[in-house]
Amino acid sequence: VTAESAPRKRVLLAAPRGYCAGVDRAVQTVESALERFGAPVYVRKEIVHNKHVVQTLEERGAVFVEENDEVPEGALVIFSAHGVAPDVHHSAKNRNLRTIDATCPLVTKVHKEAVRFAEEGYDILLIGHEGHEEVIGTTGEAPEHIKLVDGPDGVDGVEVRDPAKVAWLSQTTLSVDETQQTVARLKQRFPLLLDPPSDDICYATQNRQIAVKQIAGQCDLLIVVGSKNSSNSVRLVEVALEVGVPASYLVDFAEEVDPAWFEGVTTVGLTSGASVPENLVQDVLELLAAHGYGEVEEVRSAQEKLLFALPHELKRLQASEP
Ligand code: F3S
Repeated sequence: VTAESAPRKRVLLAAPRGYCAGVDRAVQTVESALERFGAPVYVRKEIVHNKHVVQTLEERGAVFVEENDEVPEGALVIFSAHGVAPDVHHSAKNRNLRTIDATCPLVTKVHKEAVRFAEEGYDILLIGHEGHEEVIGTTGEAPEHIKLVDGPDGVDGVEVRDPAKVAWLSQTTLSVDETQQTVARLKQRFPLLLDPPSDDICYATQNRQIAVKQIAGQCDLLIVVGSKNSSNSVRLVEVALEVGVPASYLVDFAEEVDPAWFEGVTTVGLTSGASVPENLVQDVLELLAAHGYGEVEEVRSAQEKLLFALPHELKRLQASEP
């Protein structure tokens, strides 16, 4: 094979990728709190599910804890982007903690839908992954009324009080296709099932899945930058495999890319989850270039312009500081 006839090695870079508006806001919230109040600033749970982000904020003085009882009385604690159940707010109050809630507004929207359906007497079938922080937070809004449905296979086992009074909601970071299957099966069992007032799977999750599908047909391999506990990042690998990309892997850092993956690969797809800073993607691009994949084409399937204002508590707390 001569150099001329060898297939051109290239990278298709999916767009949109990386930070969504909710992650951007949550990370900026911790950064602003550190600037305004100084270290330490306590953060309940990982502010967003990304190793690099958590490590970087830790170096700047953020202290990550699992629960409020690890935060000294009276100190400042930030709640993560994934949302918290009402009892977390209560326990913070009991410990006199100063709180900033960095819950993504699109998660808060699902909380409000849950409260409203519960008040109207519905049982709520919450499609989501068991044990995920967002699911725990949403369920806490109406624990008596919410039943978790973990994918299409969870449908048959779910029990409700009145099959005529059921509604469904979902986690914001699920696979769009799998959720449609779950809903279709739920509707077979509960024909009167009520839909949420608007999509619960957020714009960022949807756009990143569409962007992967857009390049999937041309990729021999798709690398997703993201952490293993990041729901939307893991979904991107699944979506790629489902639509027929021969191989897809999740990496936190460029060093985790295994050169053996490049065997026989002409086109590498690259994307990143909603909690991933762009510099980590650039590191992977550099590594790909070093392996001969220097030609990069960005394929954009949507423009994203959404921005959320920072939590109002940042201002309020600053004003009350001595
Ligand atoms: Fe919010 Fe969606 Fe990001 S719910 S935190 S915009 S992935």
